Amino acid sequence: MTPELARDRIIETEALAARYGHVQALQPTDMHVGEGELVAVLGPNGAGKSTLLRALVGLTVSTGMVRFRGAPLPRGNAVAVAARGVVLVPEGRGVFGPMTVAENLELGAYRLNDRSEFERRLDRVLGLFPRLKERMSQTAGSLSGGEQQMLAVGRALMAEPKVLLLDEPSLGLAPRVVSGILETLGSLNRAGLSVLLVEQKAPLALELANRAYLLSTGRVVAEVDPREIKSHDDLAQYYFA
Ligand SMILES: Nc1ncnc2c1ncn2[C@@H]1O[C@H](COP(=O)(O)OP(=O)(O)O)[C@@H](O)[C@H]1O
Ligand SMILES: [Mg+2]
Repeated sequence: MTPELARDRIIETEALAARYGHVQALQPTDMHVGEGELVAVLGPNGAGKSTLLRALVGLTVSTGMVRFRGAPLPRGNAVAVAARGVVLVPEGRGVFGPMTVAENLELGAYRLNDRSEFERRLDRVLGLFPRLKERMSQTAGSLSGGEQQMLAVGRALMAEPKVLLLDEPSLGLAPRVVSGILETLGSLNRAGLSVLLVEQKAPLALELANRAYLLSTGRVVAEVDPREIKSHDDLAQYYFA
């Protein structure tokens, strides 16, 4: 690969692999997200989607390589990875239930010392998610599932990520709520944010994605152009080929 092409990839893996004891949850995997791309990773339960994201950000012990804008990312150090701008919205949202919405958002920007920059980021997040603005002093645990997902995304955005990784943001949410959140992700992406979106709900993710990887039993079984997937059957053929 030429250095020019390497720079076009905001994040890429080379033979990234992870195991839990005897379970090889992620086979050596090469994948990437281009600058400004929205890439979906689709696959059934247990396919290794969460393991891939956790390995990318250093929350799971892994082998192989992760590069960010061509340079190796620190391994096994999620804090250092987040400081580079690679930020994960985890499966199950990971908001701090007993803390208020405002406190959760503040935590997203805990490395920031600049008050006016903090206010600027907060205004932007609350502009994207006005529901959170009305609930700033409520505990995160008292929010609905959809609001908690907004908070999880909002908290990640407070860190001003360069690439946002999302682990099944639609899980357990009503379709209308999901489409609102995905629309917001789409508009963030159109404004320049690179996104890696893990989903089981393929049609929703494919509507937004520039490209998609299909993961099955820890392996990328196909890379697809979302425009070529018209039906569930089109997708199924990759799994049963
Ligand atoms: N902490 C863990 N300990 C042991 N096995 C795990 C652990 N987490 C996940 N696995 C196994 O690794 C495989 C991939 O899991 P995961 O990455 O969570 O898949 P997905 O997110 O696609 O549902 C599954 O077989 C799962 O049972
Ligand atoms: Mg998962």
